[in-house]
Amino acid sequence: MSKNEVDRGKRRFLIAATTAVGGVAAVGVAIPFLSSWLPSQRAKAAGAPIEVDISKIEPGMLLNVAWRGKPVWIVNRTKEMMDLLGKHDGKLTDPKSEVPQQPEYCRNATRSRQEHANILVAVGVCTHLGCSPSEKLKAGSSEGMSSDWPGGFFCPCHGSRFDLAARVFNGSPAPINLLIPPHKYLSASRILVGDDSKGAR
Ligand code: FES
Repeated sequence: MSKNEVDRGKRRFLIAATTAVGGVAAVGVAIPFLSSWLPSQRAKAAGAPIEVDISKIEPGMLLNVAWRGKPVWIVNRTKEMMDLLGKHDGKLTDPKSEVPQQPEYCRNATRSRQEHANILVAVGVCTHLGCSPSEKLKAGSSEGMSSDWPGGFFCPCHGSRFDLAARVFNGSPAPINLLIPPHKYLSASRILVGDDSKGAR
């Protein structure tokens, strides 16, 4: 890994971090494979949960929001993406999410709440040294991806690879899966990231 590649990874994170804009609520337009940072006013307070409108995240798209100063990815996985998840368990470091990197309700094959199993909510910070991986939601086409890559997330700093459930592949420098933050659904189209207590807002 050259210094330029490391710098590129850091730069991606910094660019995203410095384009944050305020708003009453975290309502964003999902753009395929691009990041948009739309933290709520409450997110400006350390540790505050953020409310996210997921109604505009089309299948196959990713929305990037900020929570506790970190990127949080919300991915609307297609059926095709979901079908891929069960096909490479043997290549994963922790396919069954034994390491507590997720709330108990996301300790399952999709690492998501089962009432909205297609929606992945994950903290986009590499568990190796903290770079922000890139979205590689489609197979085989770009940096760090081989033709048998099932899609997911790729960390350019040292080459860690994660699948579409944010599970790390064997041989990656990252030792464990990406973190799934506490979250809950306020409605079919709104998620609260950072709080999963009953009735709390
Ligand atoms: S920080 Fe991601 S691979 Fe090293």
